[in-house]
Amino acid sequence: MTTTTALRTAARVVGAVKVYGGGDTAVRALDGVDVDFPVGRFTAIMGPSGSGKSTLMHCAAGLDTLTSGAAYIGDTELGALDDRRLTLLRRDRVGFVFQAFNLVPTLTVAENITLPLDLAGRRGDREWIDALVDVVGLRDRLHHRPSELSGGQQQRVAVARAFAGRPDVVFADEPTGNLDSRSGGEVLGLLRRAVRQTDRTVVMVTHDPVAAAHADEVLFLADGRLVDRMQSPTADKVLDRMKAFEVRS
Ligand SMILES: Nc1ncnc2c1ncn2[C@@H]1O[C@H](COP(=O)(O)OP(=O)(O)OP(=O)(O)O)[C@@H](O)[C@H]1O
Ligand SMILES: [Mg+2]
Repeated sequence: MTTTTALRTAARVVGAVKVYGGGDTAVRALDGVDVDFPVGRFTAIMGPSGSGKSTLMHCAAGLDTLTSGAAYIGDTELGALDDRRLTLLRRDRVGFVFQAFNLVPTLTVAENITLPLDLAGRRGDREWIDALVDVVGLRDRLHHRPSELSGGQQQRVAVARAFAGRPDVVFADEPTGNLDSRSGGEVLGLLRRAVRQTDRTVVMVTHDPVAAAHADEVLFLADGRLVDRMQSPTADKVLDRMKAFEVRS
């Protein structure tokens, strides 16, 4: 076991291969990816459509299984867990934010935020959740339902929900994809503050160089492979790197 690495890893994949289907129609969505997501870091994943970003995220998060290779949350290898333990691990140690918010329409904001904890029969850390409500700026909306909120506000609820159980890592797939640039900026600022101020770990898939610039590091995928990584990204540098993909393809 590798427990002596300088940075603790919240999640990682080793030799990750994912093949969808078989025979002539088989698609190699991940073609041998090694990557780790250190604790307390905000990592963005970019790459052309179909390059394997969502697949990587889903496999790293235990929402899908690898064809070969291994995925870990902390020191726990996901492939070694049966369905029940995998479900518990996802519930207790992983948070998710999706492009389409995925709030429960019949529940209030407050109920949506604590839903994963309530389902788990956990009380959660009330002080933490209370602080989260302020971080996401929804104190005066707690008793509203999602249909009474703007898109940006709904996504802020989803962010609070993702962090409510103090997960080891939050995975976000295009969390700003349905938002205008101002609301998107607020959600990104939130994710960044969660990482900075509370030492959380965030992995975010995005197409948007401006969104990626909020991260500490950007990973670039192409054809199911990790082809580059960029520390301290700026939107301009990321855009330049993305253009190189377009020229090539
Ligand atoms: N369930 C599936 N069955 C078959 N092929 C799939 C499945 N999911 C994804 N793929 C294929 O795997 C490849 C990678 O898909 P993935 O969704 O990971 O790409 P992506 O980088 O997230 O793209 P996008 O930016 O468009 O969301 C694509 O060629 C896609 O068609
Ligand atoms: Mg995708």
